[in-house]
Amino acid sequence: MCKQEKAGSDRLDFERETPNKPDQQWTGEQFMRDYQNLAKVIASLCDGENDVISKMATISCELFHNVDGFDWVGFYRVVEPGLLKIGPYQGGHGCLVIPFDRGVCGACAKTEETQIVADVDAFEGHIACSTSTKSEIVLPVFQNEELIAVLDIDSDTANNFDERDQKALEEILTAHF
Ligand code: SME
Repeated sequence: MCKQEKAGSDRLDFERETPNKPDQQWTGEQFMRDYQNLAKVIASLCDGENDVISKMATISCELFHNVDGFDWVGFYRVVEPGLLKIGPYQGGHGCLVIPFDRGVCGACAKTEETQIVADVDAFEGHIACSTSTKSEIVLPVFQNEELIAVLDIDSDTANNFDERDQKALEEILTAHF
């Protein structure tokens, strides 16, 4: 069940300074990362939906199309012990299979903790599905306290994620799985 009452909170919105040019220079431009509204929209779209894949598809779509700097958004599902396979996603093609001992997604699945990578080139074992990716956040997805997937968000902007994104995204995931 979507738990609409858990989505939406003043704490979810914040302004963020980010580079928005291909050369990755900081412009000082501020934009609102409007998680509060996003959480409401997702809750509304998923209202009454129990199917995990349908919810993953909807969340991927909304995050990809509504947040600046989210250049790939998708889920990798735990399909057997120690193994992730691609789930619903938006963006260019993602690799199909990720063992728990590989990549940022694997690190998230293995530790069951959110991984924030400011510079993917500095992360040993990062799997580059796209050469344009500069930073990444991967969050664990739990259902009944069991890890069922990870949510991977890639950005073509370096250092594009912090604890505020983590908190807002974890709230969305907790509300829907
Ligand atoms: N970069 C990820 C792999 C998935 S793609 O980015 C879509 C990783 O290192 O696990």
